[in-house]
Amino acid sequence: MCGIVGYIGWREAWPILAAGLHRLEYRGYDSAGVAVVAADGELKVCKSRGRVDELERMAASHDVTGRVGIAHTRWATHGEPNDRNAHPHCSASGGLAIIHNGIIENHAVLREALEAEGYGFRSDTDTEVIVQLIEYIRDRSGCSLIEAVRGALGELVGAWAVAVVERGEAGRIIAARKSSPLVVGVGEGEFFLASDATPIVEYTDRVVYPADGQIVELSLAEGLRVTDMAGNEAGVEIEQLRLSISQLEKGGYPHFMLKEIFEQPGTVVDAIRGRVDAGLSEVVLSGVRDNRERFLGARRIVIVACGTSWHAGLIGEYMIEEMCRVPVEVEYASEFRYRDPVIEPGDVVIAISQSGETADTLAAVEMARGRGAFIFGVCNVVGSSIARATHSGAYIHVGPETGVASTKAFTGQVTVLMMLALAVGRLRGSVTAEFVADKIKHLCALPGQIAGILSRAAEVADLAKNFTYARNFLYLGRGYSYPAALEGALKLKEISYIHAEGYPAAEMKHGPIALVDSEMPVVVIATTDGVYEKTINNIREIKARGGRIIAVVDHDDTVVRGIADHVIEIPRTCPHLAPVLASVPLQLLAYHIAVNKGRDVDRPRNLAKSVTVE
Ligand code: F6R
Repeated sequence: MCGIVGYIGWREAWPILAAGLHRLEYRGYDSAGVAVVAADGELKVCKSRGRVDELERMAASHDVTGRVGIAHTRWATHGEPNDRNAHPHCSASGGLAIIHNGIIENHAVLREALEAEGYGFRSDTDTEVIVQLIEYIRDRSGCSLIEAVRGALGELVGAWAVAVVERGEAGRIIAARKSSPLVVGVGEGEFFLASDATPIVEYTDRVVYPADGQIVELSLAEGLRVTDMAGNEAGVEIEQLRLSISQLEKGGYPHFMLKEIFEQPGTVVDAIRGRVDAGLSEVVLSGVRDNRERFLGARRIVIVACGTSWHAGLIGEYMIEEMCRVPVEVEYASEFRYRDPVIEPGDVVIAISQSGETADTLAAVEMARGRGAFIFGVCNVVGSSIARATHSGAYIHVGPETGVASTKAFTGQVTVLMMLALAVGRLRGSVTAEFVADKIKHLCALPGQIAGILSRAAEVADLAKNFTYARNFLYLGRGYSYPAALEGALKLKEISYIHAEGYPAAEMKHGPIALVDSEMPVVVIATTDGVYEKTINNIREIKARGGRIIAVVDHDDTVVRGIADHVIEIPRTCPHLAPVLASVPLQLLAYHIAVNKGRDVDRPRNLAKSVTVE
């Protein structure tokens, strides 16, 4: 989703801004643009539909020199993706330029009011309203730019991260955020601004995360100043960034997605590291240990998340109910936040989010927090909005995930949820020490087992060739394999654009079996667990109707092998962790089908990595 970059300092801004836009490409976008203030105060704007490469080609024939600038990648919400709607947007006089990530819900009313005052609009965006409003306030009251920005933001309903530059003012950027991410990088005599730390990491490891409702002034003369919406000074807390450039590169892989799939043996180790005691008998999660009364007293647990993180949450539900004997509900954050749910003090809400910036999950967290629940975050991005809005949590520590399709974050989330269930189960006395020790053994075996699956990745690539031209896919599983089936289907549809549905295998008979014919590949996760025999019956029902079965089975399975058209073998683990192992070949299957179809795997159409609008 929209990406923001800004620079002010002693270097030429444009090369830094362009590199930053490339770093943010993974978020998804359809147009890009830049505004630079030259040394003589001239404000130069250049923008176009399409990729950052196109903007760079355009900028090469425009003069975009200057040491102060802001740049943007836009993921269209209001108005189609075209040159006109691309950011930056300028005020009526042309004296101010703004970039914005978020949505202004009351833009239509504001636009009407400004039009009545004679302001003309050049785009269909909600963003243009903000810059016109800033200029209107300043023209009417003669106040400073920062006061006008504060005044305009006070009129807005919605979410924003904005950055504003001004003609004639080659020494200042004003930025602000509410419910949309923004990071400030602090260098020597220079400042950086971005939607996340990836454009900043090669210049400085000192960052400031402005809080919701704060306004940041970056000035060459006066340094960094942070104030709130009332104009009060806020403290500036500089944090150290733990991110390296090598983590942001493809490292020889053709796509980030493939690199991230292959990183999983290491990322699962990172998720477990330091959380299992030396005797391999206890899980130690500080976020649980420090809040033991909350978990002991929990009447129920509600998990909120979106997309892949929601699938991990479903697995978390099964684990926590089984091991902690406490009722768990898993909610789509977007539904939860708008349906007035019963949330009371004493409830524990677990928010799962890779990016930590998903607008619906953040809003769900804020609502539940407002109603007195204890909020525990399972996030990847350190210092992200959701991580900061929670009372406590456990990071998954899988490193930056750049491919739009989530892979290593999913396996990291399931790993952490397993440790959470074990820690809370032990705390509540609902699982024995022996049970925990046995599960720790399985957890510690995961990295090697994933490496084993990846060593046979070529077999999945071969298999994928048979299905490149399939038009529909079904993914089935029961028990812990059901969320893994949902996740397998989501991976395929989002990057290959093949229609794919995940279903609980037994639900087939209640409708979807009508779709099965000889054209229909059906992926069935049939690992050995309490419902293995039942899954075999479901496979027979599909075969009887001519369906083509691709079965994910334990390496020593003999029964399903005799019935399925194709098998993908995975090592044996406990049922709780089988979704981690099953998801790896399904990620590869989706990847290779998408590559065979010539899809843009890392940046699939219409999708954004970080969904910062609801
Ligand atoms: C799918 C995918 C999305 C995200 C969803 C939530 O591959 O990546 O479905 O899982 O947008 O994102 P986070 O986890 O960042 O809250």
